[in-house]
Amino acid sequence: MPVNDHKAGAVIVRPLLPSDPIPAITRLLHRAYAKQVAMGLRPLAGRQDDSVTAERAANSECYIALVEGAGGETIAGVILFEEQEKATFPPFFLKPHVCHFAQFGVDPDVQGRGIGRALLEVVERRAREKGATELALSMAEPDRELYDFYVKRGYRFVEHWQWPYTNYRSCILSKALA
Ligand SMILES: CC(C)(COP(=O)(O)OP(=O)(O)OC[C@H]1O[C@@H](n2cnc3c(N)ncnc32)[C@H](O)[C@@H]1OP(=O)(O)O)[C@@H](O)C(=O)NCCC(=O)NCCS
Repeated sequence: MPVNDHKAGAVIVRPLLPSDPIPAITRLLHRAYAKQVAMGLRPLAGRQDDSVTAERAANSECYIALVEGAGGETIAGVILFEEQEKATFPPFFLKPHVCHFAQFGVDPDVQGRGIGRALLEVVERRAREKGATELALSMAEPDRELYDFYVKRGYRFVEHWQWPYTNYRSCILSKALA
């Protein structure tokens, strides 16, 4: 069993199940990435349709964060661990000691409450379980607030990368896993 459920206060992070609603995740991603879209950027997660959301989940380990609300549990965040893509990977992702994550988003209504941190803890744990010593990600270079978010969490700049489906240069960041 690769994964255990992970709890952080009122947040539960668990693997995506076949019964989970893909459209809710697509909507969440569009809302989470709206800030970058408003900056004139075209992140895939900000415009992908449900079939792409489902395909990306199938090509990775997909985790969702659930929060308890008045109407029951709702999906508040999502992250993909070790997504396999058709696009060429940045050189750093191809190193044997490196794992990576992608499509990381939290519902803007509940950002700043540690849900992102809980999702990151799960992928960091999965990377350690796989024997990796580095956990990497790709982010839009123009989003300096996001860059600061990762630096505060121990990530550092590694290299630039241009994905074929975006209109901006990306920064590859990575964190050494203790
Ligand atoms: C990046 C992201 C997933 C983080 O999720 P989150 O749930 O807000 O993360 P956390 O609550 O764990 O941490 C947010 C940090 O910002 C701070 N913060 C304060 N107010 C905030 C607010 N209104 N919104 C966001 N963050 C806030 C928090 O204090 C926290 O910092 P700290 O842990 O040093 O105290 C989320 O901001 C997001 O979905 N962004 C848009 C999509 C995106 O850019 N994804 C990454 C692509 S590489």
